[in-house]
Formats: sequence, C-alpha cells, structure tokens
Amino acid sequence: MKGLILAGGSGSRLYPLTQVVSKNLLPVYDKPMIYYPLSTLMLAGIRDILLITRPEEQVLFKRLLGDGRQLGISLTYAIQEQPRGLADAFIVGADFIAGDVCALILGDNIFYGDGLISLLAESRRQLGQTATGGARIFSYTVRDPSRYGVVELDAQDRPVSIEEKPRAPRSRNAVTGLYFYDQRVSDIARRVQPSARGELEITSINQAYLDLGALSVTRLGRGYAWFDTGTHESLIQAGSFLQAVEERQGLKVACLEEIAWRQGFITREQLQAICRSLPKNSYGSYLAEILDGG
Ligand code: DAU
Repeated sequence: MKGLILAGGSGSRLYPLTQVVSKNLLPVYDKPMIYYPLSTLMLAGIRDILLITRPEEQVLFKRLLGDGRQLGISLTYAIQEQPRGLADAFIVGADFIAGDVCALILGDNIFYGDGLISLLAESRRQLGQTATGGARIFSYTVRDPSRYGVVELDAQDRPVSIEEKPRAPRSRNAVTGLYFYDQRVSDIARRVQPSARGELEITSINQAYLDLGALSVTRLGRGYAWFDTGTHESLIQAGSFLQAVEERQGLKVACLEEIAWRQGFITREQLQAICRSLPKNSYGSYLAEILDGG
C-alpha cells in the first residue's frame, strides 16, 4: 500500500503565520505539524510515502525528513504547482501510486486515540490488494459540520449522502482528512470536475465510490481526538491538547523515531545511533528513556 501526504495549499487562513513558511511546518506543541500525519501513516504500517508540497517549500520538507531512510521508510516528493484541490493528489501522485491501493492524509490533520492502530490495520485489510476493495473514510462528530465534508449515515452506519461544506448539514459527521482507496482512485480523480469554488474536491471522489456502492465509513468515537489545524483556534487547541497528554503520560505523540522502532522499521541499534546524534534536549532525552525502558 502506498501513502500520500498532501501538504500544499495556500495556507491563507493562517496568514501571516504562513507568509514565509508552509502551514505544515508550523509547530504543533513540540513538533512540526507534518510529523503528526506522517506518524498516522507509519502507524498504519505504510512505508512507501509521497509527500506533495508547493514548489518553493519542497526543499524545507526535504531538509526536515530527507528520504526517510533514518525512519526505515521511503519518502519521495512531488510538487503541486497550484492548489487545484485535494483530489489532485491522485493525479499528481498517479505514477507513484502506479495502480496500487493507497491512503491519503492531509498534512494538517492530527489523529489521536487508543485503538487507532488496529482501526488502521483493519482498514488496510478491508482494501486488500484488489481493484475493487472500495474506499474507506473516517467520520468524527463535530459541533460545526458546515466547515467540512459531511456524511449522512443510516442506522447501520452505511453512508447515505456526502456533501462538501453544506450550508444545511444533514448530520454532524465530519469527514476527516484520512482516506483509503482501491486501485481505481487515480482514474476516478481524472474524471472529477471542478466544484463551484473551482477545486477538484475529495468529496467528489467519495461520491463516486458511494455511487458504486463501494464507500464505507468508520466512525471515530468519543475516545478519539481529531484536529484539522487549519485555523488559529484549532492550531492552538491541538497544541494544548497534545501538551496535556504528553505531560500527563510522559509519552510523546507522533515521535517518528519511536514509532519507526516500535513498528520494527528500524533496529534498536539504529535508534541508539539516532539518539547519539540528537541535541540534548527533551526530545533527545525522551528517546534515550524509551530505549532504556523499552
Ligand atoms: O480536514 C478535513 C476536511 O478537509 C474535509 O472534511 C473536507 O471534506 C476536505 O475538503 C478538506 O476541507 P478543508 O477546507 O480543510 O480543505 P483545505 O482547502 O483547507 O485543504 C486541506 C489541506 O490540504 C490543507 O493543509 C492544504 C492542503 N491542500 C489543499 C488544497 C485545496 C493542498 O495541499 N492542495 C490543495 O490543492
């Protein structure tokens, strides 16, 4: 399975924070934002990942994450010249996907919760390697659904309708920025027409799968936290939440080196070498503690 992270966009909602730096590199508590969605793909066991950015920012992401070898993953990079919409990820990334099944995560989405790893594993299993495994999306109850894609579910949690930022939402189930698709996704993306706001909407892809009877929805219940850090308010809320959890547990969320080691992507010796190379700050000493205790 291939993974894609979409980390471009105009970032205009966060101006002036995003005047000279990508939103996805802004700090969310103690790490750059991009660490969180990358960690989610790694927790799903995905090791072959394409990072899609704006042209001028690719160099910064490369400086931060390199080719991923240090994390036991393969990171490749692609450029989205214009923010044409989320569905464009599957056109920009078509050669990378190369007919495989794939997962897309938005670079500003943060997922946290017990059971996430098994939920991700189950979603991968459902898709299998077939051409017709369908699509799996994840919904989350929100107070202000009009800001998101909204999915309406029947009594068995089967999707009935899906709409992008509806004025009169039919439910409070926001569609989160994590999507699993079978091998048809790039072909479906190429057929998507721009919406009224001029974007190739991910919701149009999901609608196509719904029309095929091939869209399933997993509800992320109250035990999960999901943040889309696209506004100043949600950015600070996510940071405060993560600070509280990390302080309380003494465990870090989205520590990429720790995840790489626990997932078996790198060996203990490789993690030890990383530890030696890190600055002697709380991040470095956390990894050293993990090695001692782990
Ligand atoms: O976060 C979940 C929501 O993400 C979904 O509920 C919506 O259905 C989906 O359309 C999307 O809504 P947003 O309004 O949050 O999308 P936004 O335009 O903010 O883009 C999300 C991220 O993707 C953002 O970090 C910028 C990046 N992006 C966006 C576009 C349009 C790109 O990299 N390229 C693009 O062309």
